[in-house]
Amino acid sequence: MKLAILSDIHGNLTALDAVLNDVAYESVDKVICLGDIAYKGPEPSECVSKIQKLDIPCVYGNTDLYLLGAMGIKNLQSHEPSYIPSPYELPYLNWHIEHMSKSDNEYLSKLPFEYRFEVDDQSFLFVHGTPKDCYSAIQPHDSIQHVESSISNISADWLIMGHIHKQFIFRSANTVLVNTGAVGFSLDGDPRAAYVTIDTTRGKVTLHRVNYDIEKAVQIAKKRDFCFSPEWYGEALRKGWWEPIPYPERVKIDQLNR
Ligand SMILES: [Fe+2]
Repeated sequence: MKLAILSDIHGNLTALDAVLNDVAYESVDKVICLGDIAYKGPEPSECVSKIQKLDIPCVYGNTDLYLLGAMGIKNLQSHEPSYIPSPYELPYLNWHIEHMSKSDNEYLSKLPFEYRFEVDDQSFLFVHGTPKDCYSAIQPHDSIQHVESSISNISADWLIMGHIHKQFIFRSANTVLVNTGAVGFSLDGDPRAAYVTIDTTRGKVTLHRVNYDIEKAVQIAKKRDFCFSPEWYGEALRKGWWEPIPYPERVKIDQLNR
């Protein structure tokens, strides 16, 4: 079986369409999404609708819980506490919520924490962050001790994650760990969209990067009066890296720390 796994679309439909177009040439049997579908991009509803319409199995990410928290909606599949946004984040979350439909919100509220299946005598576990929660992460430079404690008791041959917006493949004692990277908001200095394919018969992982029209995404942000400034958004997409989001509370915290 050939799988394509994508994650962290972050409301960037231009990048998502480019990735789905690329996936179409890969003749995959199954596509899986690892969450963070809507927040921090100018087309949140369009991204949720597309994943929903294509019937792509999906788990929730931390920013999907942020949006639900701002709406006062509980994800009933979640074992994690409801997210309570700060008053400074709310206007940004609310911009997205105003651009999303009831059906989008219902869809996010029903996403599971994890997705599992077995094929070719191998077990696959898909999560957004780590098997413990959607907020924590395994980074490519983490110590083997941190990795082993993060994956203890997962009983899976493969662990596929998103969340950190950086691709990697890592083989621990009993498990192959893969990070898909991000479709809509790269954070590894390469502005191209990222996804992975896995050929389960051969155990082969391929890290894919896809060029997309970044300027089109920035123009859409401008036209929609996106809550984050188009200058900040455009620079982040072009660099494949974001400077900390200029939430007012960050300024206040910085001032307190000085
Ligand atoms: Fe993300």
